[in-house]
Amino acid sequence: MVIQVENLSKIYRINQKTPGLGGALKSLFRPQYLDKVAVDGISFEVGQGEIVGYIGVNGAGKSTTIKMLTGILAPTTGSVRVLGRDPHQERVANAREIGAVFGQRTQLWWDLALIESLNMIGKLYDLPPAHYRDQLARFTEMLDLGEILHIPIRNMSLGQKMRAELAATLIHDPKVVYLDEPTIGLDLMVKEKIRAFIKQENRERGITVVLTTHDLGDIEELCQRVIMIDMGKVIYDGALQTIRDRFGKYRTITLELSAMLGTGDLDLLDDTEIEAIDGHKWRIRFDRTRTSASKVAAHVMNQVDVNDFSLTEPDLTGIVKQIYQGALNDIKVSTGELAQVTV
Ligand SMILES: Nc1ncnc2c1ncn2[C@@H]1O[C@H](COP(=O)(O)OP(=O)(O)OP(=O)(O)O)[C@@H](O)[C@H]1O
Ligand SMILES: [Mg+2]
Repeated sequence: MVIQVENLSKIYRINQKTPGLGGALKSLFRPQYLDKVAVDGISFEVGQGEIVGYIGVNGAGKSTTIKMLTGILAPTTGSVRVLGRDPHQERVANAREIGAVFGQRTQLWWDLALIESLNMIGKLYDLPPAHYRDQLARFTEMLDLGEILHIPIRNMSLGQKMRAELAATLIHDPKVVYLDEPTIGLDLMVKEKIRAFIKQENRERGITVVLTTHDLGDIEELCQRVIMIDMGKVIYDGALQTIRDRFGKYRTITLELSAMLGTGDLDLLDDTEIEAIDGHKWRIRFDRTRTSASKVAAHVMNQVDVNDFSLTEPDLTGIVKQIYQGALNDIKVSTGELAQVTV
């Protein structure tokens, strides 16, 4: 296993200040602390070459976990091993083999042109010149760096900065990469470029990726497995497909009828619901584990003339929203399986 996380917790200790000068002095001499449990006893493993989506609502504890995985933060309790090392204790050795992108802030030298930053990183990591040139050529092509190599970071647009950031993070050929919201605020074209790049580095070089994002498009494109956390605890760890199967059991058929109808005019199968868009257009929602699209459609077509119909697959955004919102309390954690969830 490349990453092994066992019973990992992080408690932030926050100094509670009372307002005013008196309060400031008081908290200086007799500080009052408030403990915030950001990560609460999580365990998981990631194998070589996996791309794992690490998802959850704001404040769930994702960035805190990533910071412990990278070695920036020390765990309060529990353990992290990355490539057999403790990333916090062995930060230097760890840094050679990992890369991290934090989408919310840049890690590059603000005043240097991108190419100068990259050259510097190449030297810092002692990359053999030929290998460095290869990497640079590949990245330039994949991330379209040609036009931005000579621009200082501070003058770059967000999308340019993020491409620069990715190049700088991966140029030393890390085995493990942590991406904390790498596509935040980017337009679809840049997102696509970044996804394709991550995919390529994973496929061709076998890098292991832990990806945090609120953009489920990233997850759909890149991850077969997701770990979902809520209030510092893992609530799901398993295949993306399992979530789809378990939660995406409702499908919608939209029908365009040749005649105007009222709701009561149609006889419906059990386990289906009908909703009017207008008198001609109707939406029928059904549970695909109980009936099928063809049965539902045929049942309607036996009664009325249908001009057109379309079937909508549930999208991941809707599914994940349902999980975040409603069913959390009933979910029991177990690898690959969601128990007792009714959505
Ligand atoms: N340095 C800190 N000191 C105190 N509390 C913190 C600190 N960093 C994070 N927290 C708190 O820990 C919790 C988890 O934060 P974290 O940044 O890990 O969440 P997240 O899942 O990355 O959220 P987001 O999706 O908004 O980025 C939050 O309640 C946050 O306020
Ligand atoms: Mg975060």
